[in-house]
Amino acid sequence: MKPYDVAAIRARFPSLANTLPDGRPIAFLDGPAGTQVPQSVIDAYADFFLRANANNGGLFSTSRAQGEGEDAAHRAAEDLLNAPKESVKFGANMSTLNFQLSRSLARELKAGDEVIVTQLDHDANYSPWRLLAEDHGLVLKTIRLNAADGTLDMEHYASLLGPRTKIVATGMSSNALGTINPTKKIVEAAHAVGALTVLDAVCSAPHYPVDVQALDTDFLLCSPYKFYGPHAGLLYGKLPLLERFGRYKVRPAHDLWETGTPAFEAMAGVTAAINHIAWIGAEFGDPADQAPLSGRRGQLRAGLKAITRYETELVRLLLDGVDQISGVQVRGITDRARLNERTSIVSFTMDFATPDEAAEHLGNDGIQVWSGDFYAPNAIDALGLTEKGGVLRTGLMSYNTADEVQRLLTSLKALAASTR
Ligand SMILES: Cc1ncc(COP(=O)(O)O)c(C=O)c1O
Repeated sequence: MKPYDVAAIRARFPSLANTLPDGRPIAFLDGPAGTQVPQSVIDAYADFFLRANANNGGLFSTSRAQGEGEDAAHRAAEDLLNAPKESVKFGANMSTLNFQLSRSLARELKAGDEVIVTQLDHDANYSPWRLLAEDHGLVLKTIRLNAADGTLDMEHYASLLGPRTKIVATGMSSNALGTINPTKKIVEAAHAVGALTVLDAVCSAPHYPVDVQALDTDFLLCSPYKFYGPHAGLLYGKLPLLERFGRYKVRPAHDLWETGTPAFEAMAGVTAAINHIAWIGAEFGDPADQAPLSGRRGQLRAGLKAITRYETELVRLLLDGVDQISGVQVRGITDRARLNERTSIVSFTMDFATPDEAAEHLGNDGIQVWSGDFYAPNAIDALGLTEKGGVLRTGLMSYNTADEVQRLLTSLKALAASTR
């Protein structure tokens, strides 16, 4: 097993070499809103358009080449999520797929049925259910957030479950605060009352292995553009459920979920992105981490575990650094003994600047971070930060470096000093 070589990983991403007009490097700490892509993803797009640009099902060579690419993308997505064959569907993005899923599940719901969501989630796993409840007279129940550390109130969750609970839709980890939810427990409790589960893995899939079979979730969604791929969405469903609820298709299409002509070029890019993570596993992963999987599934698992370890060290560095800057308050888990309960999305507020002011200051120094609520308005509201402009969010990805974290800290210190 080779040590994690961030320089070798970065060398695969041409856009990381971009600079500001004055030549200063850019630190891409904006990954949770969309990561940079390796050259292999760019090449996959070019290859599709040069070699396989045809619709599917044609009795000629380019269509056959396209069909092979489409199959390869499905196999890759299944490997990433450790999902059975044909159980992962491609769509435009997570939000659109979740609206489609929620509308499809509605066919077996009736007024008074209950759907549980969370206060922590991105709105893409809240509003599809909120609007479904409005349309069909369902009761929407929301699991509370513990504002102190950004975790879900699991006792509150237990109190919301009941015989009328039909769907539990929760995130696996928060895009705003980095919290990793006790997802397996959430799924087990939902199943105990006969409810279906819908997990949002958008901010999990880039940071740690997501195994739909181990989780036993009924549905799960994620977005490849958050894990080094192109803009697209993935929906996993247990095969009998995909069959039972799939509905909104045109004739004579055979697939119940992939409506219309998909972005074939994005599928090619997704395969390349997933192969990139498998490459990290093959190069820098601990072979023992592959178990109980093997082949590309094992490499993906080992790769994501290597990524988790590396990103956790960056989190530690960032948390230790911001502790040294007075007036900075991290929102979410900071206890160093609990770093396995959070991802490397780290958000904070400052008493010397609003999140927008800080993001602009950092941006001028070539350090790209986001500010605001990141479409998680309920969570930001629960923290009492809506009027204050939300939080400043840093996303430490597999290609970020300790040096970039230091640059962020130095720039933030300079901002603090300039305001005092
Ligand atoms: C946790 C989470 N869920 C859902 C979404 C929505 O994903 P998409 O842009 O693919 O619709 C995002 C996007 O930022 C997200 O961070």
